[in-house]
Amino acid sequence: MNIIQQLRFAAVFCCLAAGGGCGPASPTASGNPATAEGTAAQKTYQDIVVGYAQIGAESEWRAANTASIKEAAAELGVELKFSDAQQKQENQIRAIRSFIVQKVDVIGVPPVVETGWREVFQEAKTAGIPIILVDRRAAVPDDLYVTLLGSDFLEEGRNAARAMANVTGGTAKIVELVGTIGSAPANDRYKGFREVLKVHPGMEIIDSASGDFILAKGEEVMETFLQKHGREITALYAHNDDMALGAIKAIEAYGLRPGVDIKIVSIDAARGAFLAMIDGKLNATIECNPLLGPTFLEVALKVVNGESVPKWLPSKEGVFYPDNALDILPTRKY
Ligand code: AHR
Repeated sequence: MNIIQQLRFAAVFCCLAAGGGCGPASPTASGNPATAEGTAAQKTYQDIVVGYAQIGAESEWRAANTASIKEAAAELGVELKFSDAQQKQENQIRAIRSFIVQKVDVIGVPPVVETGWREVFQEAKTAGIPIILVDRRAAVPDDLYVTLLGSDFLEEGRNAARAMANVTGGTAKIVELVGTIGSAPANDRYKGFREVLKVHPGMEIIDSASGDFILAKGEEVMETFLQKHGREITALYAHNDDMALGAIKAIEAYGLRPGVDIKIVSIDAARGAFLAMIDGKLNATIECNPLLGPTFLEVALKVVNGESVPKWLPSKEGVFYPDNALDILPTRKY
């Protein structure tokens, strides 16, 4: 899909998410929002300056998210101010403050953790700059952000448990690699998985620790799990693909077969996960879509032009297994 097709898809999806109430204001190929009466007062993509306070580059997912934001801005002619916080909340906050000083039109942010945003979001509000939450939720009152654009992490956790039941036949001693502590995806994937576990008494979590969504930490924590529990472990639930890929290395180094001796379910559905499924080392991956750039900028333009947007624009996502991974791999965009 080129950017215009992605935007048309996003516009249709936005309408669905809004219960069909988006109206006719979808972007045209020229980048001008087409409205029923007169476009003269409306800003175009080329008129707006957008700040994006990225978390960092912890995963394949995050790299794809950054690329999507930058590519969409370049293709649409939006002036983008991009900052990489290197996983630190204080750097994200500093970036937001710098965007406020620079008087950008809109700020996008995937909050690294849920809490601690109230003050800086209030500063943006006071300066008249709307905040769009991209990918992750923040624990702030509704009036401090315009919309949240991203996945249903709770459902991803539930889907991971359903997939785990499928690949283990409902009997498993599971170790869990949790994402960044205090982040919305880690909180919800932890919770959603356990919700579904309640109806699968044969599946039990025997250990759980954070690998911070990072491959090397996933490997490290899996080594510790193996030292502690050895062959008692029959399954691994990783909150993202990167940690699963790291754990696969640790399992092999321990002399066990990932995907066979230890069944593995992870989240993201990035290309690395498809390659691991093709190799028989990963048993399922739950999709989490990072390609949010076109929708983010479409929403940013709408907000600048005073249009209302739904409070949450959820992504549409699937579940993938090894049986058709080879056929699907060429279609994966990240
Ligand atoms: O917030 C989305 C999560 O953050 C992805 O699952 C993970 O890979 C990323 O780092």
